[in-house]
Amino acid sequence: MNISIVGSGYVGLVTGVCLAHIGHRIICVDNDPEKIKRLKRGEIPIFEPELEGLLKRYFKLKKLSFTVSIKEATQKTDVIFIAVGTPSKKNGDADLTFVENVAREIAVNMNSYKLVVEKSTVPTATGMRVQRTIALNLPKKFQSNKKKTIAFDVASNPEFLREGSAVHDFMNPDRIVIGVESKKAEDLLREIYKPLKAPIVVTNINSAEMIKHASNSFLATKISFINAIAQVCDRVGADVLKVAEGMGFDKRIGRNFLDAGIGYGGSCFPKDVDAFISLSERSGYDFALLKAVRNINEHQKRSFVRLIEDKLWIIKNKTIGILGVAFKPNTDDMRNAPSIDIIQHLQSEGATIKAYDPQAVEKAKPCLPGVQFCKDVFSTVSDCDCLLLLTQWDEFKKVDFKKVKQVMRQTIIFDGRNFFEKEKLEALGFEYFGIGRGKL
Ligand code: UGA
Repeated sequence: MNISIVGSGYVGLVTGVCLAHIGHRIICVDNDPEKIKRLKRGEIPIFEPELEGLLKRYFKLKKLSFTVSIKEATQKTDVIFIAVGTPSKKNGDADLTFVENVAREIAVNMNSYKLVVEKSTVPTATGMRVQRTIALNLPKKFQSNKKKTIAFDVASNPEFLREGSAVHDFMNPDRIVIGVESKKAEDLLREIYKPLKAPIVVTNINSAEMIKHASNSFLATKISFINAIAQVCDRVGADVLKVAEGMGFDKRIGRNFLDAGIGYGGSCFPKDVDAFISLSERSGYDFALLKAVRNINEHQKRSFVRLIEDKLWIIKNKTIGILGVAFKPNTDDMRNAPSIDIIQHLQSEGATIKAYDPQAVEKAKPCLPGVQFCKDVFSTVSDCDCLLLLTQWDEFKKVDFKKVKQVMRQTIIFDGRNFFEKEKLEALGFEYFGIGRGKL
């Protein structure tokens, strides 16, 4: 099928490339001409495993093209996905300006039936608003003549992919959610996803949008729940790793997303939880549970800093080595990375910060002024008074701690992701502090 994707950010680009991979002809649109130029050269603006190779392959095969023109995309394709950003406003609401602009531009350029699909994470009822915006902005000749008006449908098809494993997640979804108001829209979306083997949940637009809110909020809740358990573990001498293992075997609970740490970050959970709290409030419901989820998440960062202050004692003039700054491994994304708050706090107390991240250094530099970025683990930890693990990149598993011990000034490790083996490090003579490991 001929499909366009408006917005070539994380979700848009992955959707475009993967839809090309399953046999469709795709036009990716972005209003940033520089980004489009780079994409045409096969350069992707993000680090995402597998994405670049597939993008180059389908661009070469002419299954994937790039443009800045919504007009071109609208007129050459039958299905248009909207995957533009929905940033947070000051009050926590999602800012839907980009979604409205795109809907309007699609409308004025419509030349035949179109299915317009929201892919961006949006508040419930946005689909209905997109529908209305398109109807109000159709070319005048279609508006004045009801008989000759142009037909279109709006649908919601939320995305559940994770950064760092986006291509894999897209190709192997747990489910595909289709929010539609017509049989034609349902049939078209079923046809698009036919090559993927996954259960398809068909519902109306509002419920599809709600499924996305509810899913992200539930996952954030799971993380905050285990982080709260970790707090108690530290106080009563229990080990959260064992607790999560013991809980996780229960199929009703599951082990995924029970990793305690320094809190969730990224471009999704913090923003989506805020937006859902705000949406619920406006609808007349005080979602106290989600407010607690958000508070616990903030508390994790503060309590990690307090632990460092407690064990390192004076922070001023200490040199702290940091492994990993991206909000999670396998991505260079720094948006809402917990590392930012933690590092800024330590800097404000007078610490010198050295840091290393396998992919995120370029994106981290503007977010972390004053940090000395190093080229590898050893240059980062040498002469440090303590080591902080903030992102659990696989390559850190291979670190030779015997050598690390020789170059550090004080052998203290704060493991913000419970990633290293506590017993091994303690046997080597390190003081090890994880999250919820029962030792305060
Ligand atoms: C999240 C969802 O997992 C996706 O399903 C969704 O499509 C996406 O948001 C979105 O709405 O676009 P993502 O933000 O890429 O995906 O990353 P996750 O793997 O979910 O991790 C989010 C944060 O939670 C990270 O900071 C991670 O370190 C943290 N986390 C995750 C934990 O602290 N503990 C865990 O057990 C799991």
